[in-house]
Amino acid sequence: MKPKISTQSNQPLASLDEWEDFLKEVYPQPAPAPAAGVTKKIPSVGTDPEKKQEEFRSYETNARPSVREFYRLNHLNQTHDFALAKRKEYLGLNRLHMSVWEAMEYLNQLVDDSDPDTDLSQLQHLLQTAEAMRRDGQPRWMILTGLIHDLGKVLCLWGEPQWAVVGDTFATGCAFSPKNVFPQFFAENPDSKNPRFQTPNGIYEPGCGLEKVVLSWGHDEYIYNVAKDYLPEEGLYMLRYHSFYPWHREGAYDQFCNAKDRSMMPWVLKFNTYDLYTKSHESPDITKLKPYYLELISEFFPAKVRW
Ligand SMILES: [Fe+2]
Ligand SMILES: [Fe+2]
Repeated sequence: MKPKISTQSNQPLASLDEWEDFLKEVYPQPAPAPAAGVTKKIPSVGTDPEKKQEEFRSYETNARPSVREFYRLNHLNQTHDFALAKRKEYLGLNRLHMSVWEAMEYLNQLVDDSDPDTDLSQLQHLLQTAEAMRRDGQPRWMILTGLIHDLGKVLCLWGEPQWAVVGDTFATGCAFSPKNVFPQFFAENPDSKNPRFQTPNGIYEPGCGLEKVVLSWGHDEYIYNVAKDYLPEEGLYMLRYHSFYPWHREGAYDQFCNAKDRSMMPWVLKFNTYDLYTKSHESPDITKLKPYYLELISEFFPAKVRW
């Protein structure tokens, strides 16, 4: 048994789950997702945008100090240059060669300061997400996407602070959207003083497609790059944009979307219903489930994958 690695010293969140628990307070219900392929713009969860903003503000007021501090650091430090530098640092994928299952066990070394009796391990969350999809008869590629979606959190094991691994992602290189939670913290981000980045479109062309937009750095972009040769487009959107809440739950940054992005958004929302709303304290039986998932992994991935 490998030693457990605590990465939480000097970090605001006692556990990465604190961020997701906060999101669940902001979004207590899954978004009503239209059928995949429907390209109409998906509205915010609330029907009254003014009210939604007020609700946002009240979640912010009531947020735990640790969550506030986490968002403050995230919004302060995630500049356009930072996101570009991290892409360059990590997306060559030349750190490790390991199988997907090995990566799941590797990530599971990550422990935090939270109560081990009430919090799920990373492996348990991945299996719960995948198992909920399997129970609903979702396609095999989607179950596999659920199984691997948070493996980008291995960034924590490589010394990245919480604010560079998790957090709702947002577009860099353009004006900060007020549809992000805690938008006031962007005032301290150096990009807020750069006029090039502070128009609604910033450095991008309208309709350029999300793939051209550099989002704040985190576990989504990393796992998308690890998996991009192996999963169908729908699964890749789920991986790459699952934390892009201002887009998929608030309708922000729509000006950059192309037809493909809009047709894929329902899949991202469908994924979100499993990711955010299937956590339970029932531990999946890892030994019993392992053979099924090893077979599923081998259907799509080679024996060793570059990380
Ligand atoms: Fe995630
Ligand atoms: Fe997750």
